[in-house]
Amino acid sequence: MAIIEVSGVSKRFRDAAGRGFYAVNDASLSINEGEIFAILGPNGAGKSTLVNMMLGLLLPDKGTISVMGERAGNQEVMEKIGYASGDERFHWSLTCGDILGFAGMAYTVNNRARRIGELLDFFGLRGVRDSKFDALSTGEKAKLALAYSLVADPRILFLDEPTLGLDPDISIKVRKEIKAIRERRGATIVLTSHYMREVEYLADRVAFINRGRIMEVSSVAGIRKHYPDLENYFVEMVKG
Ligand SMILES: Nc1ncnc2c1ncn2[C@@H]1O[C@H](COP(=O)(O)OP(=O)(O)OP(=O)(O)O)[C@@H](O)[C@H]1O
Ligand SMILES: [Mg+2]
Repeated sequence: MAIIEVSGVSKRFRDAAGRGFYAVNDASLSINEGEIFAILGPNGAGKSTLVNMMLGLLLPDKGTISVMGERAGNQEVMEKIGYASGDERFHWSLTCGDILGFAGMAYTVNNRARRIGELLDFFGLRGVRDSKFDALSTGEKAKLALAYSLVADPRILFLDEPTLGLDPDISIKVRKEIKAIRERRGATIVLTSHYMREVEYLADRVAFINRGRIMEVSSVAGIRKHYPDLENYFVEMVKG
């Protein structure tokens, strides 16, 4: 069953010279409940813009997006959604515990202390619970962003480049944790990435997006069959 439906969505912005362009151009896709769905594309392809419209943070110029049967941005639906970005920034002087506690209050989570304790354990962050955000390593920051997005036990989790800037070994750990989130909680996960290996490892289905256009939606196996060398295919797409 589709939990997210994107139908004919476009979003235009103006560039620095004032010229209008399509960041997302007539995009349609449908995301099934419980799947890990990846939006793969090069820098500037429109991935974050598309996700921000699914979150209801940006309004499409054209088309519609429904999430759990409601228009994107619906308040009740928002409460069932988690979001984490690989370049998440929290205030430097807040501790891990403060940051997760804030999410617990913002979403009125019951048994907040227990939930936060579970997440600290799940992500191996207990040892840095009282460390300030500024003092965390890049990997710890990425895990904290994920933990933050999970405090309210979301039904849909949007992850915008969750392993951005991480060392390969930490990326692998974060990816394993993303898989475990789906396995343990059964959440639907929508992930953006420009790492083919990440998408290959994580995603049930992939949408390739380039210059605002969805080029193809397929299973990872299907994409691999069509394009045995994903890496090269991707390079070709970037060249356009
Ligand atoms: N608020 C905005 N105003 C003007 N242009 C914008 C705005 N937001 C994004 N853009 C532009 O729209 C295009 C798509 O941006 P978007 O952030 O969606 O790409 P992306 O695929 O997420 O890229 P990246 O991999 O770098 O995160 C880019 O050219 C970007 O510069
Ligand atoms: Mg982006």
